[in-house]
Parts: sequence; C-alpha cells; structure tokens
Amino acid sequence: MTEADRKGFDLNGLLAERAAERYDLHARHLNHQLPRMLHTIGFDKVYERAEGAYFWDDEGNDYLDMLAGFGVMGVGRHHPVVRRALHDALDASLADLTRFDCQPLPGLLAEKLLGHAPHLDRVFFGNSGTEAVETALKFARYATGRPRIVYCGHAFHGLTTGALSVNGEDGFRAGFDPLLPDTPIALGDLAALERELRRGDVAALIVEPIQGKGVHAPPPGFLRAAQELLHRHKALLIADEVQTGLGRTGDFFAYQHEDGVEPDLVCVAKALSGGYVPVGATLGKDWIFKKVYSSMDRVLVHSASFGSNALAMAAGLATLSVLEDEELVANARRTGDLLRTRLAALTDRYELLKEVRGRGLMIGIEFGRPKSLGLRSRWTMLQAARKGLFAQMVVVPLLQRHRILTQVSGDHLEVIKLIPPLVIGEPEVERFLAAFTAVMDDAHNGGGLMWDFGRTLVKQAVAQR
Ligand SMILES: Cc1ncc(COP(=O)(O)O)c(C=O)c1O
Repeated sequence: MTEADRKGFDLNGLLAERAAERYDLHARHLNHQLPRMLHTIGFDKVYERAEGAYFWDDEGNDYLDMLAGFGVMGVGRHHPVVRRALHDALDASLADLTRFDCQPLPGLLAEKLLGHAPHLDRVFFGNSGTEAVETALKFARYATGRPRIVYCGHAFHGLTTGALSVNGEDGFRAGFDPLLPDTPIALGDLAALERELRRGDVAALIVEPIQGKGVHAPPPGFLRAAQELLHRHKALLIADEVQTGLGRTGDFFAYQHEDGVEPDLVCVAKALSGGYVPVGATLGKDWIFKKVYSSMDRVLVHSASFGSNALAMAAGLATLSVLEDEELVANARRTGDLLRTRLAALTDRYELLKEVRGRGLMIGIEFGRPKSLGLRSRWTMLQAARKGLFAQMVVVPLLQRHRILTQVSGDHLEVIKLIPPLVIGEPEVERFLAAFTAVMDDAHNGGGLMWDFGRTLVKQAVAQR
C-alpha cells in the first residue's frame, strides 16, 4: 500500500499515537466499571501481541490464555489458516450482502456445519450467541404455536431481552423485568419438566449440555429423557452449544456425548469464526424452518443485516477446516482428560479444593470449606463478605505471579473455569499445574500476600453493599 492510499486514515499511526490512552479512553467513553475493576485487581495490563494460546505484554512477557476470549479463540489466536481465508475474502472484493442474491459461502458453511449434526437440515446465520438463542426461541415459539420456554437454574444463554428471559441468575435479570413468561426448573429435574409440559403451553426446553456458569452437567441420561418427554408433549429440545460446541468438550457438539440425543434446534457461535468476526448460527430441523418461512411473504420474517456476511462465513469455513486438519476435537478430549485428572488428584492434597469437573477443555475447579480451624476462620470471613472471593483470590495470583489468565466462573461462585484454546498440549498443562499448585500452597500456608489480598477484597465487598 502506498502512502497515498493511506491518506486520511492510518490505523498504525493512530495506535502509535494514542494506544497509551486505552484505559482512560475506556473509563471516559465506555463501561467505566471495567477499567475500575481491572485496576482494583491489578489486571490493568497492556497486552501487545497474541498467537495461539499466548499473548505478550509491553515488556515481552508471555501469558498463557486459559480463557480464550470467553471461548471465541477455540483454534487459538491468529490462526494462519483463518487469517489467510479472511485476507482472501477481502482481496476477492466479493459482491457481499447485496441481500437479493444467493452467495456461495453461507451455503457452504451451512453444509459443513450440518455435516456434524446429520439429523438437522437448515441453518440461520446471525452475529452472536445471544442472537443464535433469540432465533431458536422465536423459531420454537412459532413452530409450536406455544408461548413458554422452560430453562434451567443457573443457565446462561446471552443478555438480549429474549435470552435474558431464560437466564437462570437473578443478578443478570434484576431490574430488566418484565421479561417473557418463561419458567425455570432445576438442571436435571425431569419431574419438574413434565409438570410444566402437562400445562400444554411449553414450546421448548433450552439447555446448555454443560453449563457455563459453574461448569455443571445435567445427570447422565437427562438430555435423552428430556427429549423423549418434550417430544411426547409436542415440544422441542434446544441445545445451546454456544460455549460447548465446536469441540470444546471433546465431542464436536457436547450433546453428542450421549447416544440418541438429537436436539430440534442447536445454537452455535463464539469459536465458529476463529475469534475474528462476530457470528452466530442456529441449526434446526427442516419442518421448523418451513413453518417459520412458510410463504414468500415471510422470506424476511427473521433476518439480520449482517447475517451470512462473507468474512464471517469465510472465517467459519476456515475454522472448521482447522478443527478437522489439526484434530482439535480429539486434542480437547485428550488434553482435557490429562488436565482434569491431574487437577482432580490434588483434591486429596488441598483441603480448600472441593471438586474438579467438566469434560474436554471445559473444566471447573470448585473450592470449598476447609476442615482445619485456622483456614476455616479465614474462609468464613470471605464467605460472610461475598461468595466467590476465594476463587477471585486464586485467579489474581495466577495472572499476577504466573501470567496465566483464568476467570471466576460466575457471580457468587467459588469456581474457576478453564476454557483454553483447543490447541494447548502437555507444556501448557504442566505450566498450569505448577502455577496452580504454587497458589494453592500459598493459600494453605495461611499467611502472606494471598490472604492480605483476600482482606482487601472483603473490604471492597463490604463497601459495595
Ligand atoms: C451458552 C451460551 N449461550 C449464549 C451466550 C451468548 O453469546 P454472545 O456473548 O455471543 O451473545 C453465551 C456467552 O457466553 C454462552 O456461554
């Protein structure tokens, strides 16, 4: 590109000039609580570069990413194959989004996705996970002619108003009501599901095969039994695979872990475009789509201006090809098994470590009340201030001292969730275990910086009440 082409706008120049203002700009013009929170816990770093499962700060230190951008970086950051596909799509100057033609890429991506869910027939492409869920909710309501969706306690399906109506946490819902007339049941409670179905107004059950908040799976056999109940009552099963899909749990879709589960609608997003382009997809049965799009008049009854755009589709096709070529689903299972087993073995050693659960590279580490007196009083002090503070006390030194990014798996939960890029292997497992062991040793020694930090968190939690 010549200097003349750059005239008017120079991205690199702009960044060179103003990138240092990033936190101030955010505080001034965006959600001001984010920089505030990041300053408080010392997460206010300046990351400059990223590749695969790592990023680097302005001093050249490497950070291991066990969060994958909330799951969007399934194939790792800046995968060369996805990058090349995006460059190719840009360079092709495609006649994209004319809206009154049929482009080849959406059809090709739909064909490829449906190859992984052979019982499903059609795909709607939107731009995010919550939009994939909105689509499923609308399609289920329209196809069944019924208003109510059943969802599970602690469920997370996105934060637009429809998806919020099936959110299982009060913290997200409060103050945004009235929401839609949907009904929660406990995860795995078949009797409650049947009770709701008997009322005859339920369109569907929406469920994450493994919940993102807390990393809880329903009991074995639940999805299959729920599906049978739902179908007996002419209602639908919606699997929200926004987080669990595309290999995360060691199967392409997490519902495939058990035989015979064939959801009527499946929501996909996050990792589908290699972390580059917003994308969402709702896969479903032919009869459902045929009902929604029942006549030419209804051709745009559900659509999105950016849905099926060429960059998202090209990135999606490239991502699926990477998953296949690098056998990342099998890697997620193998590496996940290794990491989970090694972590689970530590529950005997650390009384604050209660349980390690999950599947593939979606792992929950839950902390719990210790037995010994000294630790118990510290634990109780934290719990009295706010649940989830101990997990936060672990997340912070993992980043500060060991340069590993993780997250607490939900508000008021003593659970850390690991959802690294699916490309990690033994070196990353070893690095995580060494760091986690060091942090847990510190916590069990009872003194030092870690519990000092705990006291700071307690003060803040109390101050916020
Ligand atoms: C299971 C599940 N569904 C839906 C969503 C919403 O996706 P998005 O943030 O792309 O709207 C998420 C996001 O974390 C999710 O985990």
